[in-house]
Formats: sequence, C-alpha cells, structure tokens
Amino acid sequence: MKKQVIGTGISGLVGSRIVELLGKEYEFINFGLETGVDITNLGLLRKEMKKYPQAEAVLHLAAFTDVDICWKERGNRNGVCYKVNVEGSNNIVHVASEFEKYLIHISTDFIFNGQQKNGEKYNEKDKPDPIEWYGYTKYLAEKIIKHSWVKNSILRIAFPFKAKPAEVGLEPKIKLDLVRKIKNKLEAKEKTFLFDDQIITPTFIDDIAGAVGAALKKKPQGIYHCVGSSSLSPYELGLKTAKTFNLDSDLVCRASLKKYLKTEPNSRPRQINTALDNKKIEQELGVKMLDIDEALQKMKKQLKS
Ligand SMILES: NC(=O)c1ccc[n+]([C@@H]2O[C@H](COP(=O)([O-])OP(=O)(O)OC[C@H]3O[C@@H](n4cnc5c(N)ncnc54)[C@H](OP(=O)(O)O)[C@@H]3O)[C@@H](O)[C@H]2O)c1
Repeated sequence: MKKQVIGTGISGLVGSRIVELLGKEYEFINFGLETGVDITNLGLLRKEMKKYPQAEAVLHLAAFTDVDICWKERGNRNGVCYKVNVEGSNNIVHVASEFEKYLIHISTDFIFNGQQKNGEKYNEKDKPDPIEWYGYTKYLAEKIIKHSWVKNSILRIAFPFKAKPAEVGLEPKIKLDLVRKIKNKLEAKEKTFLFDDQIITPTFIDDIAGAVGAALKKKPQGIYHCVGSSSLSPYELGLKTAKTFNLDSDLVCRASLKKYLKTEPNSRPRQINTALDNKKIEQELGVKMLDIDEALQKMKKQLKS
C-alpha cells in the first residue's frame, strides 16, 4: 500500500510535477482551494487532518506566489499574501504538531536581499534579509517553522522549471516558468529581452521532486538549498535555451535590471544576485541537483518522448 502524504499547493507549477514523479510511491492528499481546503482556515484544516491518521508527513507548498501583487499589498496583514503565506503556514505548523506529522516546507531564494558578491553564493548559514513583501512573508513562515516543535525540513528553491505541464488533472491552472516562457517566445520568432546584470539560480523541478523524495525517506531536520548547480543571468539562460532547442539566439536580447529599476521607480525591489550554494543537500541527503546544461538536455529529452 502507498504511504500517504498530505500535500498543500500540489496543484501548482512545482507540486504537480512532484506528484507526477513521486505518485507511484506516495498517495498525495490534496489540501487546496480546488478541493475545498483553505489553509487559512485552521478549524477546517483540523477537521481534514483527522481523516488521514495514516499520513506520515505534510508537504507544504501552498503560497500566494504573485510577487508583484504581494508588493502592492506590502504592510497589509489582512492581504491575501500575508494570510496565505504567514497565517496559512502557521496553521500548517499547528496541525502538523497536533497530529505529529513530519513537515516539509517549500521556501524561496527571495528570503535573501540579493546583494550577494560576484562569484559568491548564499549558503544555509547566511542570514535572510528580504527586500520585498513576498520574500518577507516567506521568511516569516520559515521563522514560525524553525521555532516550532515540529520535526521539519525547509527546502529553499529558486526559479523552478520543467519540460511540460503535468498530466491532465494534476495542474488545473497552467503557470509557465521562465525557461518555458523564453522557449515559447523564441519558437514564436519573437525577441526576448533578458537582464544581463542579474544572477539567478534556475532549478529543474524533477530535482526538487528528488529532494522531496529523499526528505520523505530520511526525515532530516534543517534548512536546505534545493537549487540547481548553475547561477547565471537570465540573458545567459536565454542563450543556453536557444542553443539547446536549436532556436535563433539573435532573438535573445540584452536588457539591464539597473536601467529598468531607474525607469520604473514604482516597481517592486529586485534581488540582483541570488546565487545559492547547494552543497549541503548533496552532502547530507545525497541529492544531485543538475547544472543548467544537464537540466536543459533532460528537458529536451523529455519533450521528445
Ligand atoms: N514559482 C516560483 O518561481 C517559486 C520560486 C521559489 C519558491 N517557490 C515556492 O514554491 C512553492 C510552490 O510554488 P508554485 O509556483 O508551484 O505555486 P503556484 O503554481 O502559484 O500554486 C500555488 C498553490 O498554492 C495553493 N494555494 C494558494 N492559496 C491557498 C489556500 N488559501 N489554501 C490552500 N491552498 C492554497 C494553490 O492551490 P489551488 O490551486 O487549489 O488554489 C496552488 O496549488 C511556493 O511555496 C512558492 O513560494 C516558487
């Protein structure tokens, strides 16, 4: 019989692929708005948790992830961003503690200020310092979990991407990731403007699923940077995407984040360099996170099959 795992946010971009890859081994119970379970409602969560005494863990991905809308809500503790990301996560901690479940929480590189020095990478010991509201709410969630009694791991991910939408039914609202957005534009023969003065750490979602699988088995305690092995600019990512999929690299055009922020003073603050180090997850959980060339090749192979 499959082991049960309670999953929040498993109908989203990342979660749906985790279910697709780990679904043979685990039965994921979907706690989401689609299934009538709002994580901001503690009473309802408790009632639902009672139905699954056999579940061995809670995988918590649910979040309000529209960073621009979150920024518009900054300072508003009644806004949806704070309600879901902070109060919802607090509720998840409550029920995981009450029903004695291991908790895996998915967090983000946006808990850092993005001022990392060139050539250096944030590790798990570096102090978070979020610069916008989404990152701040995700940081508050991390703090709640860290200071709770629940046995937990926090997996910080960044710029997740995958080859294609999940199987029918698993991902009702399709959300495109950065790599697929670039690829789609190039396939449509449209120019794509990408920052060459920003550093990001794209992460193949299949590797995140591998890390979740390892965490479900080993049940470690602590924070892990669950990110790809390459940190590069979006512009470089565009060139690599064009090369891998034999698309026209002349359509990949340089843009400048610094210039953008000057011309759009009302836009949300941006992290300039969020290079993250992933040694710990490999050393402690034995999870290999692909570099960007390996990940794009794997994506290409999956699209052919
Ligand atoms: N995407 C990124 O670039 C990125 C980067 C770093 C970290 N992350 C983190 O990774 C996790 C997954 O992100 P994602 O991009 O896959 O998310 P997503 O596609 O935006 O999906 C959000 C998920 O959260 C659920 N949800 C939202 N509000 C809820 C509520 N009140 N109660 C219950 N469920 C609720 C949604 O469920 P329904 O569909 O049922 O409404 C959906 O499954 C998040 O924790 C996010 O912070 C994402």
